[in-house]
Amino acid sequence: MTVNPIISEKPFDFFWFIPTHGDGSYLGSEQQQRPPEFGYFKEIAQAVDRLGFPGVLLPTGQSCEDSWITATGLAAHTERLKYLVALRPGVVSPVFAARQTAALDRLSNGRLLLNVVVGGNPTELAGDGVFLPHDERYAQADEFLKIWRALVSGEQVNFDGKYYRVENGRLDLLPVQERPPLYFGGSSDAGQDLAAEQVDMYLTWGEPPALVAEKIASARRKAALKGRKLRFGIRLHFIVRETEEEAWAAADRLISRITDAQIENAQARFLKEMDSVGQRRMAELHGGRRDRLLVGPNLWAGVGLVRGGAGTALVGTPDQVADRIREYQDIGIDTVIGSGYPHLEEAYRVAELLFPKFGIGSRRIKPREDIANEFSVGFHGAERLQASS
Ligand SMILES: Cc1cc2nc3c(=O)[nH]c(=O)nc-3n(C[C@H](O)[C@H](O)[C@H](O)COP(=O)(O)O)c2cc1C
Repeated sequence: MTVNPIISEKPFDFFWFIPTHGDGSYLGSEQQQRPPEFGYFKEIAQAVDRLGFPGVLLPTGQSCEDSWITATGLAAHTERLKYLVALRPGVVSPVFAARQTAALDRLSNGRLLLNVVVGGNPTELAGDGVFLPHDERYAQADEFLKIWRALVSGEQVNFDGKYYRVENGRLDLLPVQERPPLYFGGSSDAGQDLAAEQVDMYLTWGEPPALVAEKIASARRKAALKGRKLRFGIRLHFIVRETEEEAWAAADRLISRITDAQIENAQARFLKEMDSVGQRRMAELHGGRRDRLLVGPNLWAGVGLVRGGAGTALVGTPDQVADRIREYQDIGIDTVIGSGYPHLEEAYRVAELLFPKFGIGSRRIKPREDIANEFSVGFHGAERLQASS
């Protein structure tokens, strides 16, 4: 008898990640490292497009290959995959960003999504020419998005604000989508105020469900006061294996070459350089301590020992990880942005082990059951395989 897998009733999007700053098998080690090469990004993008991931996030920052140029290249080599690319208020002009938006949305035939990244590292931002304090960066982002939104919607823009002035701005060529959706991941009060007013999808790094629930409630309240509704997404790494032992062994292996000095340096740098509330919340989960990495059932903070931003992973069997995802779904999450080291292999593991729990990827070509080969013995093919070997 064939048992049907439990299919999640709540639809959700499972995105993946293009590691434009490089990839590898061990954090904190140069061994088995993969440099940021377009050919490798292309392998990942084509794999995840085929596997049924609907989209990928491309990060932005000093250490990353430019997300717009990378996404433009990848869009030409993929069919359905959507690209979540950063909008950078303060770093580029809103008119230039709107024109790029239209161009990439047209080139990709409507596969562009935007992640509004205001930035949480004043040292890096100073290098980019941005010197505003934390909350004022959000005031600037608000003006930026008003101009961007009007332009991509086909309006002529005259704007005289505190940070931007535009006279008779317009796009002659408009995006394919009515307006490419805006994603956003700031955790501060000012960030949530911006989200309430301007964005479509509010993102959080992978905090435990109770903390995510609080964040969602507060963002939802703020949006409701403006008469708006938000969608919610979470960013997590994944270590899914057939057995729990294998999964935890893979987690241990991933951080097995990190030295204590590397952890201290990374944590001190995050504290000293960054004013991001989201980053502080991530760091507080483990305090830089190897003995405090289990921050919830199947929720492990090992990645955050040396990586800024997304620092937690769901670790376990497909059933365990699926249960944890359902807990997040129950509090309102409808989009997961996953990743795993290395990103190509872990994309396959997630697709092959976890997707069947949610009925994702069902558009992949199904093998005929009556074909005899080494993967289909047990159906009608068993005897024929024997006969042919
Ligand atoms: C899912 C997600 C993705 C993010 N991607 C980036 C990124 O690529 N580059 C970056 O500098 N910040 C990124 N951030 C950080 C935020 O955009 C934000 O600038 C930062 O957290 C500071 O805001 P806060 O103080 O309001 O938390 C991301 C945040 C989230 C939740």
